[in-house]
Amino acid sequence: MATWSAPGKVFLFGEHAVVYGKPGIALAIRPRVYVTVRKTSHAHHAKSPYIDQCFKELNVKGSVYINSQLPSSSGLGSSAAVTVATLAAINDEFGLGKTRDQIAELAFKIEKRVQKGRASPTDTTVSTYGGMFLIKEGTRKRLAPQNYHLVVGNSQATHSTARMVEKVADLKGKYPTICEPVLNAIEAITLDAMKHLDEPQYLGRLMDMNHALLDVLGVGHPHLSRLVLAARATGAYGAKITGAGGGGCMVALAPKNLKARIAGALEVTEGRALITCLDTEGLRKE
Ligand code: PMV
Repeated sequence: MATWSAPGKVFLFGEHAVVYGKPGIALAIRPRVYVTVRKTSHAHHAKSPYIDQCFKELNVKGSVYINSQLPSSSGLGSSAAVTVATLAAINDEFGLGKTRDQIAELAFKIEKRVQKGRASPTDTTVSTYGGMFLIKEGTRKRLAPQNYHLVVGNSQATHSTARMVEKVADLKGKYPTICEPVLNAIEAITLDAMKHLDEPQYLGRLMDMNHALLDVLGVGHPHLSRLVLAARATGAYGAKITGAGGGGCMVALAPKNLKARIAGALEVTEGRALITCLDTEGLRKE
């Protein structure tokens, strides 16, 4: 029997712009998904297409048990975390000798297949290695870890990443002279953030600006706006949509002493709040 775990992720800057070759900053967050795999002679009971593909890809049979502390389908990278941890647990249980890099690559391939071509390597990369990354056109640069206090608010409004990516593409097609400068401005925010990663107050303002530009791109949602405003009103350095938008989650960068208060304000605003921080480990054997 082998148990492995992997963390979730949030985008701090640059979602949607990354689809157009701009840089983005994403980081691994607690909590984690735990996966236990055990060799069996019969086929495992697939609980998700991701798990099914992991066994198929590695050509083994086994049973699997998932314990996820990460809300699913909310843009926090739970499918990538499940995939990465399942591959690592199979690799360990069956002694397949795959490296971390091979697992990250395979996990991306599986996400792409299950999501019918619509996947970026961001989630699988961040979940495998942990920490914070500058992502650009499939390349990644590890950034120095920071002790951020983050509060994630889940709007509980369902959304589809594919649909939101399509929505931005449509808008860009109809209003190219407006959307292109907006994407350039998001890029400028990400690049400026790179120079101020250890200044939460400065970063917070950049998050607010990034949020406004995501609204311009049409990926806002009334629940997300309410949560973002509630976080700012309660003393967050800044707050923004994280991920695809149109529902899903927002993230606030918080002063340490205010994170619980901000989380409370998000709950009162009918969101589900999660106080979190950077996960620096990535894939981990339990
Ligand atoms: O909501 P998520 O975690 O699936 O984030 C989507 C981020 C996008 O930039 C909109 C798409 C992508 O593949 O990077």
